[in-house]
Amino acid sequence: MPCSMDRKDLKKIELELRRAEKEDRIKDKDLFEVVEEVFDRRTVLSLIELRRRGCLKTIKGVVSAGKEARVYWGRAPDGRDLAIKIYLTVTAEFRKSIWKYIKGDPRYEWIGKLPRHKLMAVWARKEFSNLKRLFAAGVAVPQPICYYDTIVVMSFIGENGQRAPLLKELHEAGELSTDLAKRILDKVLRYIEIAYREARLIHADLSEYNIMVWRGEPYIIDVAQAVRVDHPNAIEFLRRDLYNVIRFFDEEVGIDVPDPEELLEKILSCEVRSVEEERVSTVRRDESEQ
Ligand SMILES: Nc1ncnc2c1ncn2[C@@H]1O[C@H](COP(=O)(O)OP(=O)(O)O)[C@@H](O)[C@H]1O
Ligand SMILES: [Mg+2]
Repeated sequence: MPCSMDRKDLKKIELELRRAEKEDRIKDKDLFEVVEEVFDRRTVLSLIELRRRGCLKTIKGVVSAGKEARVYWGRAPDGRDLAIKIYLTVTAEFRKSIWKYIKGDPRYEWIGKLPRHKLMAVWARKEFSNLKRLFAAGVAVPQPICYYDTIVVMSFIGENGQRAPLLKELHEAGELSTDLAKRILDKVLRYIEIAYREARLIHADLSEYNIMVWRGEPYIIDVAQAVRVDHPNAIEFLRRDLYNVIRFFDEEVGIDVPDPEELLEKILSCEVRSVEEERVSTVRRDESEQ
């Protein structure tokens, strides 16, 4: 499978998907002879399923080609821009890197041993479910729209296929004024706190590379690995997120920053819910995630 697609490949997929939509039964041969060098058969079927469900109309272009996942720009039936994140492969490195997030988490520890495809599907589901919880709690993340198999569909941060810059890129382009930087830092810290208190989640891989800035507002992305606050290493993950964000604004941007340890204390001391309340809400949440 090639690592990137050109316009011609995308055109082909679009044509094939349009044709498949018109047919009651998808003629596998017609469909896959053309596109199998682009997406594997299973991914194409998943895309067709998402289209059948009415949450995706066309895939228009590649936004990002990472090692494990690719993000595409697409359109919903109502014309809305979408980001379509497709997990395509599992590298040995990926397995290793996710282990620290799932180890000790009774909900997910078992997935470490799953075969490649199943692991990607669980990871996509986990990303969707984390997005839902964060979005509902009021954290600025892409709006989750739907998911199927290894594909997560969410709102597009940017417009007309032009994605918003990452915080890192905005700074490198010299477009992060002191005022804007202060506002963004303030909001990101607030989101970390809301995520902890309301969604009971810790991003666990937060940095200037997983924050996009659109129209002056920060958006937190890439949440598949986020852990629950009852994860055995929750505090370490929370501490690392705070340090990463604060270090960027302190050392790279050069604005006044709060003390990360004090912030950590503050967030942890806001444990207003009783243990029993948390237990009940966890059970409910897990049930609703089934
Ligand atoms: N909702 C979105 N809207 C627009 N672009 C996005 C969106 N989500 C991700 N991207 C782009 O795709 C890139 C990779 O997405 P990310 O979720 O961070 O995956 P990875 O695991 O590859 O880091 C991001 O750096 C960003 O440029
Ligand atoms: Mg990322």
